[in-house]
Amino acid sequence: MRVVDLINKKKDGKILSKEEIQFIVSGYTNGHIPDYQMAAFLMAIYFKGMNRDEISNLTLSYIESGDIIDLSSIDGIKVDKHSSGGVGDKISLIVIPLVAALGIPVAKMSGRGLGHTGGTIDKLESIEGFNTNLDMNTFIDNVNKYKMAIAGQTANLTPADKKTYALRDVTGSVDSIPLIASSIMSKKIASGADAIVLDVKVGAGAFMKSLDKAKELAETMVDIGKSLNRKTIAIITNMNEPLGREVGNANEVREAMEVLKGNGSEDETTVALTIASYMSILGGVFEDFDSAYMKLKHIIKSGKAIEKFREFVRIQGGNTDIIGNPDMLPKAKNNIEIRAKKDGYIKFIKADNIGLAAMLLGAGRKNKEDTIDFSAGITVNKKYGEKVSKGDTVFVLHTNIENYTEAENIVKNSFSISKVKPAAIKYVYDIIK
Ligand code: URA
Repeated sequence: MRVVDLINKKKDGKILSKEEIQFIVSGYTNGHIPDYQMAAFLMAIYFKGMNRDEISNLTLSYIESGDIIDLSSIDGIKVDKHSSGGVGDKISLIVIPLVAALGIPVAKMSGRGLGHTGGTIDKLESIEGFNTNLDMNTFIDNVNKYKMAIAGQTANLTPADKKTYALRDVTGSVDSIPLIASSIMSKKIASGADAIVLDVKVGAGAFMKSLDKAKELAETMVDIGKSLNRKTIAIITNMNEPLGREVGNANEVREAMEVLKGNGSEDETTVALTIASYMSILGGVFEDFDSAYMKLKHIIKSGKAIEKFREFVRIQGGNTDIIGNPDMLPKAKNNIEIRAKKDGYIKFIKADNIGLAAMLLGAGRKNKEDTIDFSAGITVNKKYGEKVSKGDTVFVLHTNIENYTEAENIVKNSFSISKVKPAAIKYVYDIIK
């Protein structure tokens, strides 16, 4: 086989066989195929697409390039969730203890944040002592005993995707549905889950800007999951404005605890309960959505959810005093208020800009090597549709840096106020099974 023939074949819109896809993926991973040929191949996929068989075969090639985690020593159906990435997305922090409280094993491998979206591992590490560096035995023991554990992704999971993603990032081929779907699903499947709930975000703060594109991505990923024998459901959720009222690491832990105590904002609570409900359906505990949703609401109301979170923090080595005293979480020294210039209703908050500003304040990484400031972030005091009077605080920026003008200007230009109350929005658009 010659690489150039396969590039031409895809460039002409033809279908590649399993062997041809494996040849390119393994050749690139072991260094036999150079970056320039892989870049041309990826660009051919970008323009010509792939059919479902090709996408499943690409996913399989990524999976087979590295370790596959064996969770067979954990009893029950192991359920995982994945978000396609958003701003203020702290759903994993909420659903891990919630679903575990139902006795369903949640064995979560998670990543760090890059760019305007945050990572679950970073958020949890803002809790003093919280250890995400678990060895595999402890990870499996914790899931068997407590039904939950989280760990950072191991270095050798889907190395082909890792190398290809880095190339896509610098050659303009990230936003291709076959490439995104195979990249995400390969990592989830290599992480050992039996069942996967995908939170596909759509809107200003998401990869997918239109509902049609989000549906296409969701359907593609659900098909990959099913073709590789994993129960998979995708939920399409709103990411126009940040989710909830907090963006940043410690901030988001604080807010996740509020949701688990029953005081969460409506959007955050609805999306978290929807995802947890589908996780518990795939986990075999409920058959219908309404019963799952009601039970999970009850778990929050009864105080069991926050107690399960306490257990989660304890078994991962974190300081559980933060639960009774969230002020112990890191706090920034500068807190800058951005106020409304007129009366009205919040009509628009641009999530990607808020994510970008939070990153500039220290909450995120521009480059992989950057360190983050757990205390930095943005509080969204007024959300879409809420009434404001001139002079009300709409956002509070939290930072330890002194020159925050750029972030301040971005936030000032990222929202608008209308005279009339805007129409209600949906938090959950669609479920793809
Ligand atoms: N997240 C991933 O893991 N891969 C992509 O290609 C895009 C988002």
